Amino acid sequence: MDEIVVPPIRIEVACTRGFNKTEQSCLVYQHVHDVVEERETIRMGTTFTIPVPYVLQVEVCTNIDQYMARSALQFYFYVLLETPAVAETVKNGTEELEISQHMLLPSRELHGLWESLIYEEGIKDSMLAFAESSMLFARKGVDKNLITCNRLALFHGPPGTGKTSLCKAIAQKLTIRLTEQYRHAHLMEINSHSLFSRWFSESGKLVQKLFSEILALLEDEHSLVCVLVDEVESIAYARDKISSNEPSDSIRVVNAVLTQLDRLRQFPNVFILATSNLTGTIDTAFLDRADFVQYIGHPTERAVYEIYRSALVNLQSIGIVEKEGKYNRRLSGSMLDGIPCYEEANEPGRASCTVLDILLQVVKLSAGQSGRTLRKIPFLAHALYVKKETDSLLNFLTAMRQAIRKVRNDKRLLENHSTEDDPSEEDVPLYSIKSH
Ligand SMILES: Nc1ncnc2c1ncn2[C@@H]1O[C@H](COP(=O)(O)OP(=O)(O)OP(=O)(O)O)[C@@H](O)[C@H]1O
Ligand SMILES: [Mg+2]
Repeated sequence: MDEIVVPPIRIEVACTRGFNKTEQSCLVYQHVHDVVEERETIRMGTTFTIPVPYVLQVEVCTNIDQYMARSALQFYFYVLLETPAVAETVKNGTEELEISQHMLLPSRELHGLWESLIYEEGIKDSMLAFAESSMLFARKGVDKNLITCNRLALFHGPPGTGKTSLCKAIAQKLTIRLTEQYRHAHLMEINSHSLFSRWFSESGKLVQKLFSEILALLEDEHSLVCVLVDEVESIAYARDKISSNEPSDSIRVVNAVLTQLDRLRQFPNVFILATSNLTGTIDTAFLDRADFVQYIGHPTERAVYEIYRSALVNLQSIGIVEKEGKYNRRLSGSMLDGIPCYEEANEPGRASCTVLDILLQVVKLSAGQSGRTLRKIPFLAHALYVKKETDSLLNFLTAMRQAIRKVRNDKRLLENHSTEDDPSEEDVPLYSIKSH
């Protein structure tokens, strides 16, 4: 009979300096097994702490159900680095321009970013799986004539939807998953905009300088190098300028960047991530090279709810919002106590609960807003409407409702569409925007 292949349950263990894997891993295994065996189901992304010195957090990175063998745990231990990012700047007269940022991974600064980004289920994980497969293919040396894998991912979509954050989070996650393969990991963030927007006569030199530094990092085969090309549409912008008789320097810069990116891709230890705001005008030469193109849209209703829930849980944990504790919860699948998850809040038979009803109202009013806007709402609510250090959840949610109404109204005024006040909840449009 064929042997049944048990899928591994991935467990990531974030540590601080001082953690000794040889001596302490057994203790970690014991504690994690205890926690994992206790529960029938555990949602992917669940985090918890264990009483082992230098262990900061344990994260379950696989959806676990009651039928899964708990023996198949696969551990990834990683030590978070405290080193701050170093900005690379160039001077032109008195002006100083930042062209890149260099960061060592896994970084303390990026810790928690992956979990904080909320998209439709499966999106983040398919991106990470793409990154992992890409690196595996490169490491194993697949025949490039037979299989194309450029190790280049492009994320595009409206402003404030978390594209840049997501790229950084993927770089951090990839580093964690590949800790056994590489001794060091770097994130080089290129600000394309500053490369292309000014001083065209200098741009060629800037590009050379920047890429020679990245190439130097790549020479070390024990280093993983993630390159983030932010706002890549600047490249397309530069090409547009060519047609309108702008300096011919721009064409040279565009070509230099594309050639340099091709050079980078010759190294098996590079992974390139790019972001763009402008879906329609991404340079085709660049687009051709990307083997993973993902649209990132505004959060769906479930994502909005979870973004607000995570913010409120945080405010409750630090005492700015009081804990409530009467949500009539029937399930206890989630490890987060307090405000229930979206599915529970929307259960047809749920007992009436004013707090949850207002939260769901705020969520409805937030349709079509970017993640960036949503993350500001709790702060605006506190600053503009709460006006005291601590308040009840009910009052805080009422303040959030006022805040989102204000934001919507301000946006409408900005767009000059209307000067009227915000419509009532009945007029709130149903959700139609989804992350694809
Ligand atoms: N889906 C989301 N879930 C949680 N947080 C989000 C989401 N989308 C955006 N954010 C938050 O919004 C902020 C802005 O994100 P970021 O700068 O990465 O967006 P962006 O898409 O790169 O924007 P831009 O196109 O303007 O460069 C971050 O603090 C991020 O955490
Ligand atoms: Mg961005």
